[in-house]
Amino acid sequence: RRIVILISGRGSNMEAIIRAAQDEKWPAKIVAVVSNRADASGLQYAAEHGIPAIVVPHKDYATREAFDAALQSRIDEFSPDLVVLAGFMRVLTSRFVAHYAGRMLNIHPSLLPSFVGLATHRQALAAGVTIHGATVHFVTADLDHGPIVAQATVPVLPDDTETTLAARVLEQEHIIYPRVIRAFVEGRVALTDGIAHMVPDNI
Ligand code: GRF
Repeated sequence: RRIVILISGRGSNMEAIIRAAQDEKWPAKIVAVVSNRADASGLQYAAEHGIPAIVVPHKDYATREAFDAALQSRIDEFSPDLVVLAGFMRVLTSRFVAHYAGRMLNIHPSLLPSFVGLATHRQALAAGVTIHGATVHFVTADLDHGPIVAQATVPVLPDDTETTLAARVLEQEHIIYPRVIRAFVEGRVALTDGIAHMVPDNI
């Protein structure tokens, strides 16, 4: 199985995935990391690990359609079985999303369907929820609404700030995202009638 990871910045989820793939000997290879920003610090980690680290700058394209077309052709040079969005901060066109239907995953730092979009930890604190978390889902044209594959929860503590809450959630992201991707490449994720199921590896 061939995996392409898309990032826009730090790339800590990307790192967790690359590390797990190696340590756990997945039947899969990270064949490329693609960023829409040249200054994404995650690119360096990928390059240091012998993974092609590619930049497709969204600013070079006049329209979303033109950027997505360029991005798609760069990705498809690597013939991926799975495209992983890991902190990729661009809204994708429905055409792009349709091209990777059933083989593109995203991680969102909230318990979907709560708190879609940006600043999810601020949204959670403002709402006064006591449970928060992260969601891995298939990407569909409807932003942050694709079939949910896995979620992890964390408590919201009384003295939490956006920073402390984000750190607690990120720790869980680094656990569930590699777990879901491993399940996908091992053929343990099924998508039926818009509902995703992950079969545990211990049965
Ligand atoms: C993560 O919290 C992810 O859920 C969100 O953006 C952040 C990216 O962090 N979409 P990183 O680049 O993986 O470190």
